[in-house]
Amino acid sequence: MNTKVTIAGVELKNPVMTASGTFGSGAEFSEFYDLGALGAVVTKGVANVPWPGNPTPRIAETRSGMLNAIGLQNPGIDVFVKRDIPFLKKYDTKIIVNVCGKSEEDYCEVVERLADEPVDMLEINVSCPNVKEGGIAFGQDPKALQHITEQVKKRAKQPVIMKLSPNVTDITVMAKAAEAGGADALSMINTLTGMKIDIHRRTFAIANKTGGMSGPAVKPVAVRMVYQTAQAVNIPIIGMGGITNADDALEFILAGATAVSVGTANFANPYAAKEVAEGIENYMRRYQVEDIRDLIGAVR
Ligand SMILES: Cc1cc2nc3c(=O)[nH]c(=O)nc-3n(C[C@H](O)[C@H](O)[C@H](O)COP(=O)(O)O)c2cc1C
Repeated sequence: MNTKVTIAGVELKNPVMTASGTFGSGAEFSEFYDLGALGAVVTKGVANVPWPGNPTPRIAETRSGMLNAIGLQNPGIDVFVKRDIPFLKKYDTKIIVNVCGKSEEDYCEVVERLADEPVDMLEINVSCPNVKEGGIAFGQDPKALQHITEQVKKRAKQPVIMKLSPNVTDITVMAKAAEAGGADALSMINTLTGMKIDIHRRTFAIANKTGGMSGPAVKPVAVRMVYQTAQAVNIPIIGMGGITNADDALEFILAGATAVSVGTANFANPYAAKEVAEGIENYMRRYQVEDIRDLIGAVR
């Protein structure tokens, strides 16, 4: 039985990754299981300098999901390179570094800093709804997206995954712009902009007023966007949005995703990503699927 998939020449032992920002850099989760059970670990977004993030409260529960407006708090690339990469290198899994920035120059600086690091792929977050400058501005304008993709590609030594926002009218326009800019792969979806009001305090549940919605409630939107994008581009897609178990992950794969990421589910069940990988194998045994690649995009 083959569970290996290849993205931009990088072979993953199975198609299951963690979604950026929901798994730290793996340290806390390594107390629960061997990270070598996963195809890849995707780190929390890292910028050229430390970011403090947004004021609290910055997370809130919603029905079948959550809102967050962390604002990409991160220790900056220097600390990240010294602390997090050596930690992840101990495990037999691929390392994907999620990169954030406020300007093209910020993104490019981080990408250049990572050029000689033992990192397998870069995921460029142009889709965070919770930062005022940069971030989503690139992810909602196809010209800006194509341009930043070209700039990053010029400097990157590792394959580049562009992470797309669902907060657009037509995701395929953005997907094609990233592909035209030279992206090696796409990941989707980032969070959907939402709002929750605390009726007792009569104010916003999140200090930022709006937050990014994630978790099971967004899954049908995400599966639809992966399907549409798979029909529109020729580069691999990493699908995410509400994946809680292997059945959810298989929906994304059948819709056209080459790999999947588990995000919000990690908070409720620290074993979630590992269980998704195991559950995909069980499904393959049950239906006598010899090669996971036969499932990718099998539903048209
Ligand atoms: C608390 C939290 C923090 C996140 N931080 C990041 C981040 O730093 N970079 C990024 O690209 N996406 C970030 N995301 C988005 C997730 O990686 C993922 O795209 C989204 O949550 C949908 O997947 P899910 O429903 O499985 O969580 C974050 C999501 C959550 C819930």
